[in-house]
Amino acid sequence: MATTTAITARHKQSCRAREHWNLETYPQAIDGNSSAHHHFVNLTSDLISGEEKVGVFESLLALGVDLLIGNDLMGATAHLVEVPDDGGDTCTLIKDNGVNLPNLPITRTIDDVRSVKIRDDDIMLCTYPRSGTHWVYEITRELLTGEITNDDVTMTQTYIEYAAEESYADLQSPRLLCSHLLMKHLPEDVLKKRIKVITVLRNPKDVAVSFYNFSKTIPGAKYGGKWENYLQPLFQGKFMYGSWIDHIIDWEQVKKTNPDLPVLTLFYEDIKQDQMREMRRICEFLGVGRTDDFLSRVYDNTTMKAMGSTKNKARKLGVFRKGGVGDWKNWFTVAQNEWFDQLYWEKMADCPLQFKYTL
Ligand code: A3P
Repeated sequence: MATTTAITARHKQSCRAREHWNLETYPQAIDGNSSAHHHFVNLTSDLISGEEKVGVFESLLALGVDLLIGNDLMGATAHLVEVPDDGGDTCTLIKDNGVNLPNLPITRTIDDVRSVKIRDDDIMLCTYPRSGTHWVYEITRELLTGEITNDDVTMTQTYIEYAAEESYADLQSPRLLCSHLLMKHLPEDVLKKRIKVITVLRNPKDVAVSFYNFSKTIPGAKYGGKWENYLQPLFQGKFMYGSWIDHIIDWEQVKKTNPDLPVLTLFYEDIKQDQMREMRRICEFLGVGRTDDFLSRVYDNTTMKAMGSTKNKARKLGVFRKGGVGDWKNWFTVAQNEWFDQLYWEKMADCPLQFKYTL
């Protein structure tokens, strides 16, 4: 318990809700490693918003805590897994009901996400990770409210599989909620109420490079593997949120089988190419009128540089990296590229989507 004491003492200096935190040691929490003891934080506090948890989570991980997870959720359906890449290096994830989630503090199980309350005018931003979610969240938020913001709010405030409900329950309507989950795991009301959904897609080669770098940065993943061992298991769906291919195919299917569900599909590369045009599309979809002058101000406020200076928590988590199109060329070997192209045509042959790999 020495580690626990040290953590408590240092943690007290920074956590305003410290009396609600309770450090415990769970002996059997990691799959296949039942004899190991790991120090956990029991996230019992309802006073700490999802945003704050991420910040606190970071500082605790730096102190050697393995995971923040609600005690009552631990061992129920959610548990930690260490997923090896092709070289044997492991990435630590939370597995809950077959879904691989990042090792971040969770406030509900995947099953419970289904019953999150959705308002008729809520808007859902649904993406596969590393596709530009934070960027489009900020653009959309500003277009929606008609206000330019310089706060540290990001998608994590309304990230429904992680954020505590109180962090978005009182937000003014229309709210912009976010998720990386498939439709079958989203709140039932999304389909029932036919709310507006925005999806952002990005070419899978840049997604893979971005995900690799992010996996090495995100503290809870504790991943230090090599790129050459990462690509194939990523597309086999072994890491966070499963396979990009399954995600894209699933969402295409959702659009096909629910033609009356209002879905706006955006591409990361299109926004890079002409953000003003794509912002006009978002405005039209949302039913808001914004002047070109206002759009220019949103543009200036949502560059990587601007967001990198205001979104401190996201920056510390490694959200902002290069922010371009085509970085994959610096990473993919010829053999990896051939392997991926073959896989793409095998799995995505029926998919009408066209991705841009360069601009
Ligand atoms: P790279 O790692 O290729 O740089 P997400 O928000 O879905 O996790 O996506 C993260 C990716 O979007 C990262 O890609 C990140 O750099 C990029 N990104 C974040 N903010 C951006 C912005 N304002 N403009 C362009 N790209 C941005």
